[in-house]
Amino acid sequence: MNRAQIKTVADRIANTQIGPANERVKSIVDRMVLDLFAIIEDFDVTQEEFWAAANYLAEVGKSNEIGLLIPGLGIEHFLDLRLDEQEEAAGIEAGSTPRTIEGPLYVAGAPVSEGEARLDDGADKGELLFMHGQVTDIHGKPISGATVEVWHANSFGNYSVFDPSQSAFNLRRTIVTDAEGRYRFRSIMPCGYCVPPNGPTQKLLSKLGRHGNRPAHIHFFVTAPGYRTLTTQINIKGDPYTYDDFAFATREGLIPEVTRHTAPEALLEKGVNHPFAEIAFDFTLPHALEGVPNALIERARASA
Ligand code: DHB
Ligand code: FE
Repeated sequence: MNRAQIKTVADRIANTQIGPANERVKSIVDRMVLDLFAIIEDFDVTQEEFWAAANYLAEVGKSNEIGLLIPGLGIEHFLDLRLDEQEEAAGIEAGSTPRTIEGPLYVAGAPVSEGEARLDDGADKGELLFMHGQVTDIHGKPISGATVEVWHANSFGNYSVFDPSQSAFNLRRTIVTDAEGRYRFRSIMPCGYCVPPNGPTQKLLSKLGRHGNRPAHIHFFVTAPGYRTLTTQINIKGDPYTYDDFAFATREGLIPEVTRHTAPEALLEKGVNHPFAEIAFDFTLPHALEGVPNALIERARASA
């Protein structure tokens, strides 16, 4: 069919309204149907291919992997880039910590502590990690009472709650910054993550000649009254996938140095008897602006 014929069929489907519609939903769905028809025509998609694709989407839904496929196709990163652009256009202060994708593995309701926390339950014998920093505005003014929500994978690349072998909220905490805007935590070094190797996300990635690996990373939501909520991650520097992240989340400014400490005095000071890694990372938040929707996106999230 030519474009005009495709448009005629799509219009016939669009013009079947018998009552009031949600105009926004209707215009987007009408457009999706038209674009899908054009794709089927342009690629001469066979009926077998079409039904395989429809079945694939059902499989993604059944296996709860929609939140994995979206970052894997770069869509979540694209939404970040659009939000960056919208913030710039709205006059939000430049120079804050870069945002990057939330991913699908946040769980609401982690234990809250003041100033500092230990994230791990002691079961994981991975490398000891101490991370600390300060939350400030873009001029360096400390933000006391800011909320730093942190979550990361264990040394096998798995997240508690989704990995039932871990204790509840292992490697998940909410830390409220102290009078100087500082937070600090003890944990174990996360390992890189990969999508379930036998799941539908990897099935599609394989057809695209792609892997489903993420570099080791630590997630954060940083929130304070009067400021824009920051959704971000830091990468563990040196991970081979740092610049080859299947979820496209790596951004300049989010790859802090990792310092390794082995000296007995350093261990003594921290009260540990193993060498440890240390990461210092400050978060810089832009002020909220009236009329500009906050940056924390409303979406369905797990809670435990
Ligand atoms: C995925 C996993 C993550 O840990 C993450 O941060 C982002 C995406 C995923 O499985 O798609
Ligand atoms: Fe993650």
